[in-house]
Amino acid sequence: MASVDLEKISKIFDKNVKAVDNVSMNVKDHEFVVLVGPSGCGKSTTLRMIAGLESVTSGRIRIGGRDVTDVAPKDRDIAMVFQNYALYPHMSVYQNLAFSLQLRKFSKKEMEERVQEAARILDITELLDRKPKALSGGQRQRVAVGRAIVRKPAVFLFDEPLSNLDAKLRVQMRAEISKLHTQLDATMIYVTHDQVEAMTMGDRIVVMNEGRIQQVDTPLHIYNKPANLFVAGFIGSPAMNFINGSISRSDGLLFQSDGFSFPIANDRIKALEAWVGKKVVLGVRPEDIRPAVETDTASFKANVQIIEPMGNELIVYLEQGRHNLVARFSPDTLVALHDKMPIVFDAEKRHFFDAETQERIETQ
Ligand SMILES: Nc1ncnc2c1ncn2[C@@H]1O[C@H](COP(=O)(O)OP(=O)(O)OP(=O)(O)O)[C@@H](O)[C@H]1O
Ligand SMILES: [Mg+2]
Repeated sequence: MASVDLEKISKIFDKNVKAVDNVSMNVKDHEFVVLVGPSGCGKSTTLRMIAGLESVTSGRIRIGGRDVTDVAPKDRDIAMVFQNYALYPHMSVYQNLAFSLQLRKFSKKEMEERVQEAARILDITELLDRKPKALSGGQRQRVAVGRAIVRKPAVFLFDEPLSNLDAKLRVQMRAEISKLHTQLDATMIYVTHDQVEAMTMGDRIVVMNEGRIQQVDTPLHIYNKPANLFVAGFIGSPAMNFINGSISRSDGLLFQSDGFSFPIANDRIKALEAWVGKKVVLGVRPEDIRPAVETDTASFKANVQIIEPMGNELIVYLEQGRHNLVARFSPDTLVALHDKMPIVFDAEKRHFFDAETQERIETQ
């Protein structure tokens, strides 16, 4: 297995499309790193440059310490799994799995062993004689993964391998790929636009937008301390609520917005001093809004506009003056449509961002 190091790689396509812009990251040996971001942000292009399927405009790529920037794809010791499986329709599952080994002139015995082992790991031994058209989507995806496994590559690259599957199968395959990572103890780079896949699968997540890296960190750190407004809004569903306002001075400090204001907790005043008189964005996750009780000092009333009972939780859409908020309540919360409901933002979980730079203001 091997590490993957990207050093300031960029890709400019014709007509000056800057698909990847100065991306640097280090994937450690055995690590599972997920590249996540909206459509067109440069995830596939980054992965394809690692695989060698796309040349870099500038920058260097190292795999296991070796500079492979100018090395042909077949000599990079990587295997890539694509969204559309790309199985050979006229070949059996066995032949599909064996094909790349045949090309590399493996002995019959070695080939047989590797195919059987991959089939066992993926639980597709019974399917080896079938043609791809006689397989379900999930089974086809497993064969596609199998084709990568037989190669025993230093690095596995996955480009949205699950997006053709239905929701249930996706959840199942997600767990299987995580299991596979543990089992093979392999280095894996996994591309997805699905933030749930990123959160659940990655040792670390790389959030991208418009060709640039926004944040690299563990899933929980990204969720709890998003580096900027983009990451804060992209990771988490329903998304974080954003409220434009400013910091002003009264007794201590005050966050003020249209229709409400509340004091800044003492332990955060120091961090926010520098923003007095400036525009900030308050970020509150849906689960950090709760129904207020009498002792809450910073509560305010909001109109209940929509209630979505999900079984395990209620998603409630609230309106307070100009502000629209989404809250996540426990399923037994007493709430009725068009109520004026007193709510409060959990004081410990308020995020602040500079409205101009969009960067997180570190308050804890
Ligand atoms: N061969 C190409 N020629 C010109 N522009 C390209 C080419 N391939 C990709 N692009 C552009 O580069 C940008 C990044 O594309 P890329 O495929 O890397 O995005 P992505 O993050 O994988 O998106 P998706 O989630 O939709 O797959 C896009 O603006 C895309 O239109
Ligand atoms: Mg893509």
